[in-house]
Amino acid sequence: MDPAKRASVGARSDVREDARRDASSDSQLEDQVKDWLRYGEDLGLGPYYRDRAPLQVIAEATTAPLEPRDVATPSNISAAAPVAASATAPAVMAAVAPGRAPAAPINVAPSSASQKAATMAAMKTPPVAPSSTILPAAAAPSLFEAIDRVAGDSLPRIREDIGDCTRCKLHKGRTNIVFGVGNPKAELVFVGEGPGHDEDLKGEPFVGRAGKLLTQMIEAMGLRREDVYIANVVKCRPPENRLPEKDEISTCLPFLMRQLDVIKPKVICCLGSCSSQTLLQTTQGISKFRGEWFDFRGAKLIATYHPAYLLRNPPAKSEVWKDLQKVMAVLGLQPKKR
Ligand code: URA
Repeated sequence: MDPAKRASVGARSDVREDARRDASSDSQLEDQVKDWLRYGEDLGLGPYYRDRAPLQVIAEATTAPLEPRDVATPSNISAAAPVAASATAPAVMAAVAPGRAPAAPINVAPSSASQKAATMAAMKTPPVAPSSTILPAAAAPSLFEAIDRVAGDSLPRIREDIGDCTRCKLHKGRTNIVFGVGNPKAELVFVGEGPGHDEDLKGEPFVGRAGKLLTQMIEAMGLRREDVYIANVVKCRPPENRLPEKDEISTCLPFLMRQLDVIKPKVICCLGSCSSQTLLQTTQGISKFRGEWFDFRGAKLIATYHPAYLLRNPPAKSEVWKDLQKVMAVLGLQPKKR
């Protein structure tokens, strides 16, 4: 073949190869986007995705760009005067870092072709260092607003609706459903991940070692355990204390939402990555947003490290105490006198 023809054939095959590679990388990205969408659908977020206007991220004076997040709106009450920190820190809290590995992505999923293209472009862009200030502006009702509120709901009715639940595979290994415990009119609700061994046996959340530490934390805030309400993202124990899986979370979450709607707490304190990432719909590590305030379904939500994490990392207690002091400032609580 003459050289010019060979060059032109070569160039065409290079172009075809480039096009094939582009198509394959686009189809990989598309698969990823589809996975995200499927995950959102699993969580019952479909209507939410479809309703949402594009995110408007408000940049604060931070050095790093913000990672897009989708639902919660940090409120300005982080400026509320905190209770004086270290001087009053009880021994239990005197001596915090991220909890367990992030759950599966619950990120924004695109609904239109242009949103999809934007998401795919963003996925091609190398990730930027996340900021410690997360300021997504929800231009539409939050995800959980999209979960219907049940008229005339009550805790007993929710428990009755759960029944002897077999909705997800966690029922196979459970001894007891761990519904939640505490004051049905609590101003403060703690949300953990899921029952462990002791909780499964007793049917009550946070009664094991981590639970004892939680009780001490509550008392350090000048409250009793029975003053607050304590619940988990999932109500049955995951085998081997593994993280709850996305289908388990999406099955159980509506019951937690109903509990929160009935209790109407002023403050929701998420303990650890699982509950905070689930309620805030983010994959971001908890260390990036713990201690920040978010508006959540009429309540103020704050995330802090899980007591089980504190058992492994006692120095992290000081960070948790700072977070709890913010809660105390909002609820007008004084720390327990020693
Ligand atoms: N850890 C949790 O997240 N919840 C419990 O109820 C117990 C331990």
